[in-house]
Amino acid sequence: MIPESFIHELLNRVDVVDVIDKSVPLKKAGANYSACCPFHNEKSPSFTVSPTKQFYHCFGCGAHGTAIGFVMEYQGLSFVEAIHDLARMAGMSVPQEAHDADKPAPKVVVGLQESLQQAANYYKAELKKSPRAIDYLKSRGLSGQVAAKFQIGYAPAGWQNLQSVFPQYENEALSVAGLVVENDQGRRYDRFRDRIMFPIHDQKGQVIGFGGRVINPEDTPKYYNSPETPLFQKGHELYGLFLARRAIRDAGRVLVVEGYMDVVALAQYGIDYAVAALGTATTPYHITKLMRQTEEIVFCFDGDNAGRTAAWRAVMNALSALTDGLKLSFLFLPSEHDPDSYVREFGKEKFEAEIKVAMPLSQYILKHLSENNSLQSQEDRVRFLNEAEPIMQQINAPRSAMFLRKKVAELAQLSIEEMQSLLKLPNLNKAPVQARPKITRTPQSLQKRFCLLLLMQPALASQDDLEMVNSHGGDIQVDEEILLCKTIETCLSHPHSKPVVILRELEQQVTEILFRELERELSVLDETLDLSQELVGARQQLQQVYVQKKEGMLLERIRDKPLSTLTEDERTLLKSLGNKAGQKKA
Ligand code: UTP
Ligand code: MN
Repeated sequence: MIPESFIHELLNRVDVVDVIDKSVPLKKAGANYSACCPFHNEKSPSFTVSPTKQFYHCFGCGAHGTAIGFVMEYQGLSFVEAIHDLARMAGMSVPQEAHDADKPAPKVVVGLQESLQQAANYYKAELKKSPRAIDYLKSRGLSGQVAAKFQIGYAPAGWQNLQSVFPQYENEALSVAGLVVENDQGRRYDRFRDRIMFPIHDQKGQVIGFGGRVINPEDTPKYYNSPETPLFQKGHELYGLFLARRAIRDAGRVLVVEGYMDVVALAQYGIDYAVAALGTATTPYHITKLMRQTEEIVFCFDGDNAGRTAAWRAVMNALSALTDGLKLSFLFLPSEHDPDSYVREFGKEKFEAEIKVAMPLSQYILKHLSENNSLQSQEDRVRFLNEAEPIMQQINAPRSAMFLRKKVAELAQLSIEEMQSLLKLPNLNKAPVQARPKITRTPQSLQKRFCLLLLMQPALASQDDLEMVNSHGGDIQVDEEILLCKTIETCLSHPHSKPVVILRELEQQVTEILFRELERELSVLDETLDLSQELVGARQQLQQVYVQKKEGMLLERIRDKPLSTLTEDERTLLKSLGNKAGQKKA
C-alpha cells in the first residue's frame, strides 16, 4: 500500500494544470483552463481544469478527477502506475509498497505545507507588533493594503522564535520546509531572523516558501530565501503569480521583473500584473507557466549590467518555449533604475507607455547579435552567422523562426536558401505530434451541458436564453428542449438558490433519466467553482445550433418552390445561405 499521506503530499506538489497541459494544451478561460476534451470527440471545448480546486471536468462526457485520475485515464495506467508517473514528475520517490516491507521505506515528511502556512501567519502577526518593521515598509512607500495583499510579515530577531508557534520544534517538517536550520552541533535555530518576510505562493495560493529582506542595510545577505524543498523549486515558481492572475488576465499581459520589491512597488502604483523570478534566471518552465496565463510577456529587468545580462539569459531560456501566438518583449530601463524606483519616479502611465513600446524579441536578438559586430567584413558576417545559428536552432515556432531566418540571412548578405543549406536548422514543416487515440465516452448533449452550467450559477440565466429556446421550438416537444425551458425558467425565478434546490424544483417537470443524469453530474462538482466562462461558451454554441436549425427549416420550406414565387426575403436568405443551396435552384 502507498500511504495515504504520500498521495496527499504528491497531490499537493503537482499542479493538475501542469500535468494536463503536457498532454492536452490548455487555454486560460476565466478562472479556469479549457481545451477540447481528450476523452471524447468534440469541436468546441467543454473540458475544464480548475487550478484552485485542482481537478478537471468535462461537461461533454463527464470525465472528472484529480491529476492522478487524469494520468490514469489519459495514459491508461493503473492507480499505482499513475502515482509512480506523477512522483517521477515531481521528483519524489514513492515509499516502498507492502511486498517488500522488510526494506526500510524512505520517509515522507508530512505537514510541510501546513507548517509554512502557520509560519506565514506568525510572521504577519509579528509585523503588526514591530514599529521598526512597519516604518521600514512605510519608508519604501508601501501602504498597509498592499502589505496585506502580499501578506508581508516580519521575522523578529532571536534564534528560536518559531518555538512559540511549533511546540515540537524538533519536528522534521520544519527543517525540510526550510524554516529551521540545524548546525553541525545539531543545534536548531530559525532560518529567518530580523527580516521582512515575503511569502511565496504556488499556483494554488498555498505558501511554499519565503524571501526575507534585511532591515539594517549593513546586514548580509540582503535577501535570504527558502532553500529548495519538496514544495519549492525556484526554477518553477514565480513570485506574485498567484496574486496577479486576475490582473494578468484583465491586462492581457504579464510583466516579469527581477525583485520582490519591484513586484510589490508596481502593485502599489496600480501595475498589479507583475511577477518575479526568484533570484534565478527565467527558465523555460517559467515561460511555459506564464504562456498559460497570457499571450504577452514583457520582461523588465534592472537598468544595470546585471539586468541586461538577465534579459539575454531570459531570451536564451525562452527560445525553446516560443510559440507563434506569443508576444515577447523587453523593456530596458535607464541604468540607474529598477522597476521599483522607475514607477515611483515616473508613475503608472509613463511606465505603461514604456511597456507599449518595449522591444520585440526578434529585434532584441538581432540588436544583441550585431551590437559588437559591424557586419562589414566577410569575417564579421561569418561570426554573426555562427552566433545566430544556435539561437535559430532552438526556435520551433514556424512563423517566428522563418521571419528571424529571413532577417539573419539578409544581414549576412545571403539568400535564405544559401543560409539554410549552410546551417543545421530544424525543419519547420514537421507534422504535429501524433495525438493519442481518444477513449470514447458517450458525449453529453449541448443542451444538458448548458442546463448543468445554469444550475451551477442560476443568477446568470437570462430572459434572452428563454427567448432563444422558445423562438423556434414551439412545435418541438423533445425531452431535452423541455429540460432547457424548465431549467431556464426555474433559474430565472430562483437566481440565488443552490444547485440542488433548483434541481429538486425540476424533478417533476423533466424526464426521470435527464433528472438522474443532472443529479449525478452535480454530485461531483464543487459548487464554488467559477464556471461563468464555460456558460458563456455553451450559450454561444447553443445560439449557433438554433440559428442553424432555423435556417435549415426555412431552407426546407422554400427548397421546392420555383424561384419566381419566392419573396424578396426568401431570396436574400437563399443567397446568404451560401452558393450550394442557391446553385441547386438555378
Ligand atoms: P535586487 O537587489 O534587485 O532586489 O535583487 P530588489 O527586489 O530590488 O530589492 P530592494 O529594492 O533592494 O529591496 C533582485 C532579486 O534577487 C534576489 C531576490 O529575489 C531579489 O528580489 N536576491 C537579491 C537574492 O536572492 N539575494 C540577495 O542577496 C539579493
Ligand atoms: Mn530594488
